[in-house]
Amino acid sequence: MATNITWHPNLTYDERSSLRKQKGATVWLTGLSASGKSTIACALEQLLLQQGISAYRLDGDNVRFGLNKDLGFSEKDRNENIRRISEVSRLFADSCTISVTSFISPYRADRESARALHKDSDLKFVEVFVDVPLEIAEQRDPKGLYKKAREGVIKEFTGISAPYEAPETPEIHLRTEKQSVEECAQQIYLYLKKESIV
Ligand code: PPS
Repeated sequence: MATNITWHPNLTYDERSSLRKQKGATVWLTGLSASGKSTIACALEQLLLQQGISAYRLDGDNVRFGLNKDLGFSEKDRNENIRRISEVSRLFADSCTISVTSFISPYRADRESARALHKDSDLKFVEVFVDVPLEIAEQRDPKGLYKKAREGVIKEFTGISAPYEAPETPEIHLRTEKQSVEECAQQIYLYLKKESIV
């Protein structure tokens, strides 16, 4: 625990936003493994960048190679994973960037904490439920992880041997067994426009 630390005053968000001529926000994708989170996040990031909008993607697998490489998949470690990402995405949003996060983030309370953290800083938080039936995710199984989870080789696998608490009132609900990646990215983009975030 750090002591004797003092918060250094900064430009306000409004000052920064007006100088950068852009708003920040976090677009928080949540869903089962193989639901399509990362693919949609990539498409959205590209779409935003093509429009000249600063955007940056934070991805579950990728972040676990660095910042969160000390964390596994127990409930406690997932809580900490999401807590750190909530803080990082808040910093990106505060820098007037659209932060696009793609983490399973299976626990409702963790996602609500991420939302509250953004709300405390008056930053927009857009929860996107990347919904797919478990059977379809399991058929897709691009990394062979569901197979290993069924065989018991991988423990605490979301949807098989660890819980996934679906969002109850997400800002956006995507159904990836029916919608294409482009449709999903477009739907998020149109929401950001409607809310005057971009
Ligand atoms: S979490 O629950 O939000 O902390 O998970 P996240 O950081 O998004 O990491 C999910 C990716 O890790 C791989 N993986 C597992 N997922 C779920 N359960 C277990 N036990 C597990 N072990 C490894 C997997 O590749 C996940 O990526 P996605 O893109 O979701 O398939």
